[in-house]
Amino acid sequence: MIVETAPAKINLALHVRARRDDGYHEIETLFAFLRDGDELRLTPGPASFAIEGSFGAALAAEGDNLVTRAAAGFARAFGVPNEGAFTLDKNLPVASGIGGGSADAAAALRALARRHGIAIDDPRLFACADALGSDVPACLLGRSALGQGRGEQLEPLGGLTDMPVLLVNPGVAVSTGAVFAAWDGVDRGAIGGGDLLERALLGRNDLEAPARSIAPVIGEALALLGDTKGTALVRMSGSGATCFALYEHPDDRSAAADAVRRAQPGWWCLESTLA
Ligand code: C5P
Repeated sequence: MIVETAPAKINLALHVRARRDDGYHEIETLFAFLRDGDELRLTPGPASFAIEGSFGAALAAEGDNLVTRAAAGFARAFGVPNEGAFTLDKNLPVASGIGGGSADAAAALRALARRHGIAIDDPRLFACADALGSDVPACLLGRSALGQGRGEQLEPLGGLTDMPVLLVNPGVAVSTGAVFAAWDGVDRGAIGGGDLLERALLGRNDLEAPARSIAPVIGEALALLGDTKGTALVRMSGSGATCFALYEHPDDRSAAADAVRRAQPGWWCLESTLA
């Protein structure tokens, strides 16, 4: 059996620069990854796919899944039979801006690469990832990076490893396409220089305003995190609705998680660290 974790991704900053003719947007983003996420298992046998975990039911209801599409894409790209039994342990909320589906797809590609002896940096593997979604190449890389283009042009970056992070999701699923479509079209400028935290602090998430227009509760999540002690950065991730805070000290993160759970017992909350 091959086991791959599918770490959650966050966008430390996400600048939308332009609308493109192909329906996508030109972005600049600082990707970072957590130590926690979904888990994908691959065992030999005929092709099959099963979902477990706290968010499994929500995903199973969607029907189509990026794991099965990743497996089909891998088989086509490498000329191997599309087989193997996948089980996904779905711990991350669906459609929530932390790349759950993209991370699962990347984990499937990694698992299949291991099974077939393909190097993890094989360009064909990145081509498979690119065809599956804008965030899948970053998830395949799985480490902090500057993303440009649709998000698929990647430049690895160092910094912030082991930094405590708290994720909070107020329980609303938002569609990435709908949030991008609600962007006001104003280019507010590039991501600046400096180390990773400086670049993030100087940056913004240009999808926050459009996401809040669709799901105003995101403002409450940001305010709740903003009220906690010891934060180094508070921001919405991706197209939302998950928001995160970085902390200098794990104790501050734990105290913040307690405060969030007390204030909003129904919200999803994850204490983790940056990879
Ligand atoms: O690439 P992916 O399928 O994950 O993107 C989902 C949707 O998000 C796209 O159909 C598009 O509407 C929007 N998107 C965008 N610009 C990007 C990435 C995604 O407009 N850079």
